[in-house]
Amino acid sequence: MKRLLIVSVAILLGFAGITLFLSDREEYVPPDNLREAMQERMTDMLRVHEALSNDEVPEQRQLTAFAGLPNSIHVSDVSEYQDFFVIFENMYGDMFTSENPKQKFNIVIQSCIACHQNVCPGPLRSMNRLIFPATEL
Ligand code: HEC
Repeated sequence: MKRLLIVSVAILLGFAGITLFLSDREEYVPPDNLREAMQERMTDMLRVHEALSNDEVPEQRQLTAFAGLPNSIHVSDVSEYQDFFVIFENMYGDMFTSENPKQKFNIVIQSCIACHQNVCPGPLRSMNRLIFPATEL
């Protein structure tokens, strides 16, 4: 009888442990289309900008790469950008390792802007606002 009790308590504790373990880990659901991946990137740029403005070092987060993702009906074919999307990821990563991250940040945001001037002018105002002035570099 006592053994049964111990076994049941052990099983209950096990379940509780697993539930705690699972709820502690946030599951990252990666975007499966270009538009959402871009929105994720905009959010991340705002986060990095805020950290750099406060002279903090931003941590690099897990993000979904643009290359290969299907685009929405709002833009025409994006196949011509694929090579640039690949190069872009390296530039993005440089912001987190550079001696002068604000300068790298400006390079990234300027390349967001360069492409968006051609394909999708909507977010240009928000992007322009993020450029660090030369006096701060
Ligand atoms: C080489 C081209 C290119 C670059 C570089 C690029 N974008 Fe985009 N972006 C696009 C295209 C194309 C779309 C439209 C995607 C769609 O609708 O499927 C888009 C969409 C967006 C949207 C979504 C707008 C909406 O419909 O809600 C945001 C926000 C955005 N981009 C931000 C960024 C940011 C921030 C960067 C730089 C970190 C960036 N983009 C770099 C091409 C680019």
